[in-house]
This record gives sequence, C-alpha cells and structure tokens, in this order.
Amino acid sequence: MPDMDNFKEAAAFGVGTPQTTVGYPLKGCASLDWGVKNRLARIFDPADGRTLMLACDHGFIMGPTGGVERIDLSIVPLLQYADCVMCTRGVLRALIPPTDTTPVCLRSDAGTSVVTELNDNVVIDPEDAIRLNAAAMAVMVAVGDSRFEAKTIANLYHTVDIGARYGIPVMGVTAVGKQMTRDARYFRLATRICAENGANVVKTYYTEGFETVVACCPVPIVIAGGKKIPERDALELAYKAINDGAAGVDMGRNVFQSEHPAAMIQAVSAVIHKNLKPDEAYQMYQDLAAAK
Ligand code: R5P
Repeated sequence: MPDMDNFKEAAAFGVGTPQTTVGYPLKGCASLDWGVKNRLARIFDPADGRTLMLACDHGFIMGPTGGVERIDLSIVPLLQYADCVMCTRGVLRALIPPTDTTPVCLRSDAGTSVVTELNDNVVIDPEDAIRLNAAAMAVMVAVGDSRFEAKTIANLYHTVDIGARYGIPVMGVTAVGKQMTRDARYFRLATRICAENGANVVKTYYTEGFETVVACCPVPIVIAGGKKIPERDALELAYKAINDGAAGVDMGRNVFQSEHPAAMIQAVSAVIHKNLKPDEAYQMYQDLAAAK
C-alpha cells in the first residue's frame, strides 16, 4: 500500500483543459490497439513516420552470404544507426546483444533455401516472438506462386491473428516468384493482398509507377534494397521510394555489402529522415567513408 502520511490532496484536475487525444500518424494504423501502435512507434520514428530497417535475415535462405558471415562483426556495429533490425531468432539469440535496444522485426517464417527457391514455408511459434520482445513479426507472402500462394497467405493471416492477440504488428514481405513480372501492377496486387489480410506494414520492391503501389496500399510500405548496386544508385533508390510515398526501407545488402557500411547506413538514414537528395547523400557517404 502507498504510504498515506503527508498525503497530497488531489487538486490538479485541469478543469477547462480538454484531455488531449493524440492522433496516430502512421497510415492506416489509427484504429490499432495501443500495444501495436507502441511497437510501430518504436520502428517508425513518430516525428516523421519513417524508418530505416536494417535487414540481415538473408542467412535463413542464403546461408552466410557476403556481409553476414559474421553478424557480430558486420551488423552489430551498425545497429546504432538503424531504427530497427530485421533478423531471425537464431541470429538474435546468438549474436545480437540483449543490451541492444534497437527494435527487432523478427523473421517469423521459414522453410525455403536458395538451393530450392520458394518452398512450403511455415511460421514459427509466435510465443517465441513474445519471448524475444519482438517489435514486429515478418512473414513472406508469395502472390502469384501457384503452389505456395495460399499457404503463404495463410501464414500471414495466422500470424496477424496471433499478433493482434498480443499486440505485435506484422509485416507482410512480398516474395516475387521468378515467373512474375516485377511491375507496378504486380506490386499493387501483392501489397494490397498483404494489407487486406491484415499486415500492418508491407515490404516490397521499388518499381516504375511505385506511387500507385503506395497509393492503393492502405498501410505503410517499406522497400527492400535488392541486390548490391553502386552506392549512389542505392541512395537514389531510397530517395525515389521515399519521394513516391514509401515509409522507409528495409535494406540489407546495399548496406552491409557496401565498401563502407557505416557510412552507407548513415547516408541512407539521412535520405529517409532528413530528406537528403541522392547527390547530397552520396557526398555524405563519401565524406564519412573518407573520415573513417
Ligand atoms: C526477404 O524475404 C528478406 O527479408 C530479405 O532478406 C531482404 O529483403 C533482403 O534485403 P535486401 O534486398 O535489401 O538485401
């Protein structure tokens, strides 16, 4: 029981000052429950509604690809510049220090490897995401894949059900089958299907006509960086995506495979949060790389 000695009589009622109802800035997220919003606010900076997610979940499909051979050496030093880290539970437990407070978007499905391409993915037990204090769960959805479309959509809505129960947002990750054309028409379809099935965020790829993809997706979109391209081009990709309405990036290889990953992630962050133009961001990258 609180100590009742020197009890201070209640008097600060603020009569005449209406209670403030703070709006929720993220697109399509105003009606979500408090826990989901709070977790999203850890990932998306409430000041601008944008995020720089650092993706390093590649190993669960690709094994120790370039840049993630030693996540303790290559990724952990970059976490200070990221708004969120996207990784698997194996990497999280083994390599990410629990003292690090960067929010985690937990890769929550598995079953595919680069050797066999798309496969019969299943989702992890969402209780493990709770144990790991995940800020979000990410699940792949393969729209247009005749064998695994239904399975992966089921994975998404199952994860959304559990996420809603425990207040954990879910990111739908659009996996594009090799036979699909990577155009705005396809990405409008894939992202909208993710959102309609309950994804709170959708991860997809930038394409010509991206503004139409963003416009008809009712929740925030972040883009993957894709395969490694020159730094200037990757910064331009991030810039164009933001300019066309993306809420951020979930970028991996174009950060950790850069010659100067720390410089690169800071330059990408400046595009996202400070609206730097591609040339300005590239200059920043070069300056930081030279100062190293
Ligand atoms: C996609 O399913 C995974 O999240 C990838 O590991 C991620 O999209 C790769 O990021 P990036 O294309 O920027 O390397």
